Amino acid sequence: MISSTNQSVFLIWGGKGWVAGHLESLLKDQGKTVHTTTVRMEDREAVIAELEKVKPTHVLNCAGCTGRPNVDWCEDNKAATIRSNVIGTLNLADACEQRGIHISVFATGCIYTYDEAHPIGGAGFKETDPANFSGSFYSATKSKVEEIMMNYENVLCLRLRMPVSDDLHPRNFVTKITKYERVVDVPNSNTILHDLLPAAIVLAENNETGVYNFTNPGAISHNEVLGLFQKIVRPSFTWKNFSLEEQSKVIKAGRSNCELDTDKLVNKLREYGVEIPEVHDAYEQCFKRMVKNGGS
Ligand SMILES: NC(=O)c1ccc[n+]([C@@H]2O[C@H](COP(=O)([O-])OP(=O)(O)OC[C@H]3O[C@@H](n4cnc5c(N)ncnc54)[C@H](OP(=O)(O)O)[C@@H]3O)[C@@H](O)[C@H]2O)c1
Repeated sequence: MISSTNQSVFLIWGGKGWVAGHLESLLKDQGKTVHTTTVRMEDREAVIAELEKVKPTHVLNCAGCTGRPNVDWCEDNKAATIRSNVIGTLNLADACEQRGIHISVFATGCIYTYDEAHPIGGAGFKETDPANFSGSFYSATKSKVEEIMMNYENVLCLRLRMPVSDDLHPRNFVTKITKYERVVDVPNSNTILHDLLPAAIVLAENNETGVYNFTNPGAISHNEVLGLFQKIVRPSFTWKNFSLEEQSKVIKAGRSNCELDTDKLVNKLREYGVEIPEVHDAYEQCFKRMVKNGGS
């Protein structure tokens, strides 16, 4: 049973992370009560002590092992990846469940890859579709843990993909692809944080649960993103493409490419009067904010 109070108290897990920082700023701007923590999710006693101390109504779990410099790291560090993404994530959801605390998990949609039933330009993957991508250990842990975690009734699982911020932070998908020597060109679902993070707060505060594909509607290719970046942010920018086969030679783990179906998210958010812009429009607005903020 999830407690419902007038005054939400948010506790952000993984408090020093990139998405966590954006959420904290947003909640503070909204005048909400927000705490952050860096307690390790797999440390049950410490997790319980933190929950008892802060007494949150809502936990926002932004903690996760993503690998540095990228997910290839997880291939060589499987035990550490399991400790965070499996044991830790489930431990935190479980400790919240026992206390009637709602938890929003910032998860990943990188658990799918285009297939015959979901080709490029065709139907996107729905929340009910089973994961079909385990080409990286990171994705494999995330999809398996999601399946188990969703048996907890206090969990809202938000599947982000290739998150994009309004600045050129190193974790921004745009920053990454502008710095690669060569880049593939495949349409994908993307999460523009400016549009989606406020929606996450709305869903959490209303104690919504279940899985949501948490991206802007539609799919956009790498070249379309870079073309808009060149047009709006940096006219001198150029880039070179390579094929997926060529890419596979320079990465250790496979990378997911897919479009997620956002109907469930769009319909749910409409109940709260929230509209999420289509991904091409969202990128245009994002790049305009980037220029305005001097982030080019
Ligand atoms: N950025 C992306 O491309 C992307 C895409 C889709 C989904 N996501 C998901 O969104 C979430 C947030 O991503 P992000 O980009 O903000 O990642 P991030 O910047 O790497 O932040 C993750 C934070 O989680 C902490 N953490 C890792 N393992 C932990 C554990 N066992 N207990 C407590 N804290 C732990 C890390 O701390 P330490 O550094 O001290 O370990 C780090 O501060 C992650 O779960 C990620 O899988 C990200």
